[in-house]
Amino acid sequence: MSKKIVVTGGAGFIGSALIKHLIEDGHEIFVIDNLSFGNRDFVDVDNDHFFECDILDRGRIHSLLADVNPDWVIHLAAIHFIPYCNEHPFEAADINIRGTINVIDACKQLENLKRFFFASTAAVYPISDDAVHEEHPLCPLDIYGLTKLSGERLSREFHLETGVSTIVCRFFNAFGPNETNPHLIPEIQKQINLGMRTIQLGNLDPKRDFIHTYDMARAVIALMNSNIDHDIFNLGRGIEYSVREIVESFERELGESITIEQDPERIRKTDRMHLLADVSKLKSAIGWEPEWGIDQGVKTLINK
Ligand SMILES: NC(=O)c1ccc[n+]([C@@H]2O[C@H](COP(=O)([O-])OP(=O)(O)OC[C@H]3O[C@@H](n4cnc5c(N)ncnc54)[C@H](O)[C@@H]3O)[C@@H](O)[C@H]2O)c1
Repeated sequence: MSKKIVVTGGAGFIGSALIKHLIEDGHEIFVIDNLSFGNRDFVDVDNDHFFECDILDRGRIHSLLADVNPDWVIHLAAIHFIPYCNEHPFEAADINIRGTINVIDACKQLENLKRFFFASTAAVYPISDDAVHEEHPLCPLDIYGLTKLSGERLSREFHLETGVSTIVCRFFNAFGPNETNPHLIPEIQKQINLGMRTIQLGNLDPKRDFIHTYDMARAVIALMNSNIDHDIFNLGRGIEYSVREIVESFERELGESITIEQDPERIRKTDRMHLLADVSKLKSAIGWEPEWGIDQGVKTLINK
């Protein structure tokens, strides 16, 4: 059945991929985004369904949500790029915590709200050489992870107070079209699409669990359609790839070799060597399996 869905941060990278699927499923989508990182052109909704608004604007968030009176709220708006958060800790804390409080408080007034979704992150976990399960002890290493852990706790409080079904997903490393932040894969993509075959990158050895936004969107929608009342799930692919392996995937897709040069300016002084999701809980809860491997995903990024 068609639902009215508000997506905060809907003009961003993951939000726009998710909205595409939600529209295909016949839902009516309303976007709240201040376009600080997102792009209006990423989302195919009419202007009267797109609200350029900052989640720090408490009064406007309250009135917008009350006017729409949605069935679901999917809260993705956040400051997300870790180096940016480290450089702007007050802004990150303000948007990711105070902004989340504003969205949640506005949700408390809604009569029809049946589901709330909060986008958390793998950055709530400490360094681990193995795949992390949801029960793994939590210990964010940076301000971004700290703000997201706060969001998880605020979401849980919201559920306990209102009884509204609340899903929290800890996203691992998303990749796909329309990236908004200079993460590893879009950085490789940008240089390759400029025709460079010698590319400049930072740390080469860390491994990450890269999941395509296509599979991410499918999982989020399956969770939202499930009967789960309140729970937390890892959302990754369950496979980790090093930077070199990602570059090899670009080589296979191009049929050309690529030389990597390390740029000292891009090297992070501290970096996790591994960040891998144990996704067994998600798979058994909703029967979801990722469909797109790294090669199929990289195909969506190359301009030929
Ligand atoms: N991309 C990933 O790999 C990843 C991993 C873990 C968690 N996440 C989380 O998933 C969510 C979506 O991430 P993304 O990769 O699409 O990032 P993104 O930056 O593309 O999307 C976030 C959106 O929020 C909007 N926004 C930022 N501050 C706002 C504010 N004050 N008011 C209103 N809108 C605001 C931005 O304009 C942007 O469109 C975020 O909550 C992020 O923390 C992403």
